[in-house]
Amino acid sequence: MHDACERFLGLLRASAHDGSLLRLTLGKHRGADGSLRQVIGRPVMLKAGPRLSLVWRHATRDTTKNLPPAEALALLEPLIGADFLDAHLLTRSQSAQLEVRADGSARLSLKAHAAAATGPAPAHDLPKAHPIPGDAPWLQTLGVTNAHGRPAAGMADKFHQIQKFSELMEHLLAEAFPGPGADPLRIADLGSGKGYLTFALAARPGPPLDVTGVERRPELVALCNQAARQHGLANLRFVAGDIATATPAGLDVLVALHACDTATDDALARGIAAGARLLVVAPCCQHELRRQLTAPPVLAGALRHGIFQERQAEFVTDALRAELLEWAGYRTKVFEFVSTGHTAKNLMIAAIRARPPGDAAAAGRVRDLAAFYGIRSHHLGTALGLALGG
Ligand SMILES: C[S@@+](CC[C@H](N)C(=O)[O-])C[C@H]1O[C@@H](n2cnc3c(N)ncnc32)[C@H](O)[C@@H]1O
Repeated sequence: MHDACERFLGLLRASAHDGSLLRLTLGKHRGADGSLRQVIGRPVMLKAGPRLSLVWRHATRDTTKNLPPAEALALLEPLIGADFLDAHLLTRSQSAQLEVRADGSARLSLKAHAAAATGPAPAHDLPKAHPIPGDAPWLQTLGVTNAHGRPAAGMADKFHQIQKFSELMEHLLAEAFPGPGADPLRIADLGSGKGYLTFALAARPGPPLDVTGVERRPELVALCNQAARQHGLANLRFVAGDIATATPAGLDVLVALHACDTATDDALARGIAAGARLLVVAPCCQHELRRQLTAPPVLAGALRHGIFQERQAEFVTDALRAELLEWAGYRTKVFEFVSTGHTAKNLMIAAIRARPPGDAAAAGRVRDLAAFYGIRSHHLGTALGLALGG
């Protein structure tokens, strides 16, 4: 085995042993299973004790295994540098990138990481196995938790949503930005509201993100800026204004959660225009297409019921969004990011830029779907310049 691989494995074992491991990403898969893309590992604390949570990311699905660290390492070590030609390790003090080239040579790059060294306590010191510890002071300031680090009255669902969102963002960020980036990633949360999820982005463990919340209600912007200052979050700011005009010009990541109706489309269009590689939206209040929706004959009977019309409008709006993003050059997935028991507004569209825009097959799917439902215009299609009729 290469010296570079040996050194990488040494760092991996040491960080798993001393609790400094934050994330392991294995990429450039060359193994037998052609659908496997990546493996992402991160430490979690379960009732049964510390575990490495391993997400096996396939082309169209993900599977997760939570294994005792020694067992996880025994499984992964033979794959590093063999089945996976790229491996990236992020610890509290440094990042290490192993690259094995086509000619069989290997290179290890190390980068000390000052910010991570001073980050929050490792998972095993946390009161509970949440990505955001319940006793994080900003959660209390925003009214999400009480003085005991438990969800405040009426905030259990929001607390759960913050945790699920944080977990999910770790996976999406690792997938969209696998290497050790030089600068903090620039991320905008459009329609940030009371800032719960915006703070979760800014206060995550690991390399800090540069986070801007955009919100049209100035009183919320003032409250959130005050809380960010109070907790010394210099990488977090909120600006007052409309998504269409106040979005920062250069972005790596765009987030818009529950931005109502066509505000989600405005957010996606702004994110694409600003150059974001990762787009994450949770749409809601899909009213735009309801007026245009013409029931295809076979569905006319079912769609005389208002609730089916409403759900159909949601489905068609978001399905067209997903196809439009494919057309715009993004690999797109649609899933439930939190269970319906916590919120009904749980659909998420995540898209990672993967190719140049203008895919003709995707344009065809957009137009066929629109024609099937009698849709003449879609806010995102208009913003991106894809006419549905032609
Ligand atoms: C339902 S709240 C969601 C807040 C937060 N993203 C969350 O999920 O907890 C939607 C927020 O988006 C803001 N908003 C809606 N349309 C907007 C626009 N065009 N520009 C700026 N803010 C907008 C609203 O004022 C509101 O605070």
